Amino acid sequence: MSEHTVIVGGSSGIGLATARLLLDKEQKVTIAGRNAARLEAAGKTLGGNLHTLVMDAADAASLPDSFARIGDFDHLVLALGSGKGAGPFASVPLADVRGGFEEKVYAHFGCAQAALAHLRKEGSLTFISAVTGQAAMPGTAGIGAANAAIAALVPILAAELRPLRVNAVSPGVVDTPWWDFFTDEQKAPVFADYAAKTPVGRVGQPEDIAKAVAFLIADTFMSGQIIVCDGGLRLTA
Ligand SMILES: NC(=O)c1ccc[n+]([C@@H]2O[C@H](COP(=O)([O-])OP(=O)(O)OC[C@H]3O[C@@H](n4cnc5c(N)ncnc54)[C@H](OP(=O)(O)O)[C@@H]3O)[C@@H](O)[C@H]2O)c1
Repeated sequence: MSEHTVIVGGSSGIGLATARLLLDKEQKVTIAGRNAARLEAAGKTLGGNLHTLVMDAADAASLPDSFARIGDFDHLVLALGSGKGAGPFASVPLADVRGGFEEKVYAHFGCAQAALAHLRKEGSLTFISAVTGQAAMPGTAGIGAANAAIAALVPILAAELRPLRVNAVSPGVVDTPWWDFFTDEQKAPVFADYAAKTPVGRVGQPEDIAKAVAFLIADTFMSGQIIVCDGGLRLTA
């Protein structure tokens, strides 16, 4: 029987690309997100054994019911996030940093907790962190601290929740709607600058990160690992 992966944040970007890759491997996939229309639109671009669920990962009280509606499954991918908390340390508003923790760290934490009742013990949990948590990029103290907090969970949970395998992928700059706070005109020079800084000479595509996630799901000897998938950006940014 095919394995069932639940992707919270599966209606866009990295989560959507991961869903597509797993569906192509004939697995069962549930994509979850807050916006029903966005889930429906994503679903139209995907074929195979796909299910959708409207849920808000930041609403901790609702999460046990959301996971109960899904039922038992094999793998959880947490691909939701927040752009809050970016900016120079001297001026980034503390409220933004707190918002970033609310929208990413506590949402990932709460989802992982609530999922445990339904997540197969021999399955896997994959967080999406970000390279800002491992690099030393000026202007990322707030957002980097949130992503480092996610990364810190990985070895602890891999030991505590064994035999469940717990890993993370830590992407660099990836061309997804996450960057839509910029217009296309603003985005182009920002991406060109990141591409020039990145050893592989380009920004990432969601499919680049999806391959790393799919590897962590499939390889039953991988646990407690954070794969930095950034084209080498952390070495030069
Ligand atoms: N793109 C990058 O350059 C980059 C780099 C490093 C790390 N990351 C991380 O990668 C992850 C995925 O980012 P992405 O680039 O794929 O972003 P994206 O294209 O904006 O997708 C985010 C997904 O998360 C869902 N989501 C957001 N908040 C949610 C919530 N509270 N509950 C349920 N679903 C929620 C969104 O759907 P709804 O809005 O409908 O809920 C959407 O499906 C994030 O954690 C991000 O921090 C991204």
